[in-house]
Amino acid sequence: MAKLSSRITSITSGGSDGWEVFYRARTMIAAGEDVTELTIGEHDVRTDDSILDAMHHSARGGHTGYALVPGVQALRQAVADRIQTRTGVPTGPENVMITPGGQSALFSAHMAVCAPGDTALFVDPYYATYPGTIRATSATPVSIQTRASDAFLPSAKEITKAAQTHNARSLLINSPNNPTGSVYPRENLEAIAQACVENDLWLISDEVYDTQIWQGEHISPRALPGMSDRTLVVGSLSKSHAMTGSRIGWIVGPKDAIQCLIDLATSTTYGVPGYIQDASLFALQQGDALEEKVAAPFRRRRALILDVLAEQNTVTAIPANGAMYTMLDIRATGLSGFDFAQALLTEHKIAVMPGESFGTSAAGHIRVALTVDDAKLSVSVRTLCQFAQKLAQDRTHAS
Ligand SMILES: Cc1ncc(COP(=O)(O)O)c(C=O)c1O
Repeated sequence: MAKLSSRITSITSGGSDGWEVFYRARTMIAAGEDVTELTIGEHDVRTDDSILDAMHHSARGGHTGYALVPGVQALRQAVADRIQTRTGVPTGPENVMITPGGQSALFSAHMAVCAPGDTALFVDPYYATYPGTIRATSATPVSIQTRASDAFLPSAKEITKAAQTHNARSLLINSPNNPTGSVYPRENLEAIAQACVENDLWLISDEVYDTQIWQGEHISPRALPGMSDRTLVVGSLSKSHAMTGSRIGWIVGPKDAIQCLIDLATSTTYGVPGYIQDASLFALQQGDALEEKVAAPFRRRRALILDVLAEQNTVTAIPANGAMYTMLDIRATGLSGFDFAQALLTEHKIAVMPGESFGTSAAGHIRVALTVDDAKLSVSVRTLCQFAQKLAQDRTHAS
């Protein structure tokens, strides 16, 4: 084979990526074993029938040809209205481009603001695709480390330090956060915004979990003073409407940036299927009720987990104020998140993600996805806690 570009061969950094537990669980399931999967962020319900009916109706009505590259006007307008209503920032369709999912929006946003070789900052722990997405644009990813004791919130001081050391162009944040469940509070976002202004950084704000808030409020940093001209918001219907497979999302930002992003889409995706866009418009028109229906099981299960954790004191939770995950601290066992997850899978056939799969800041933690039914989740987390307690006791006796 002729040589491939260094850009594409370096998208993944190679070596162990911490996803071994996930792949091992999948292999066990394929072999017929009964494994409880608390690994990835996929709902345990499918897209609502009413949305599928709208999709069918649109496709049968002939909306199967090329759709407008930036998105159909009515959907751009609906996204703009939704964002303006929720944030108060004046937003029109010219500020919106429809994308094939939030992932494509993350890539496009970095393409828009980083030239090859520029540094793009992101926060550790992070959603697994972040560094690869940045490398795919030929920019250089640099992580901002965080601490469990600060609920994994990034400090503005460290952002400034990294921005100045690397002459960075952008910062990517994600609230509500995957993998930690943290919701960035206003003071933290204000400090981050100030660091962006002072260091002339673009802020790429991944808000795909904005409808999954269990405590506190979702604040979009685009609404903070001085930020609407330097923020690109990434949104999606994947999580809010259980539409992961429909690949539908958006970027919201300054009109001139959106214009350039449309040029990028014209030479890459050439837009999103019209029937998916029509179904998405229908979904948004249903308002909060449908979003709450999709979010409700996660809200309930997060409360269930906190109840189970209250029965013991070996495993503790990082305040999980949003998103469909809870990050648990298992350092009392003396094991790494990776070794704990491997042992839990071997002993109890429960699969969770090691914190180390999401960078280095969440070492000694595990992420539990709230994506199985309530009863199964309660039993699994109770088993997990008992397993951790036993490991912690064995450790005390051994020392
Ligand atoms: C933080 C975060 N951002 C973006 C995405 C991508 O979402 P989409 O399905 O819209 O591409 C995910 C998916 O899990 C995610 O967790």
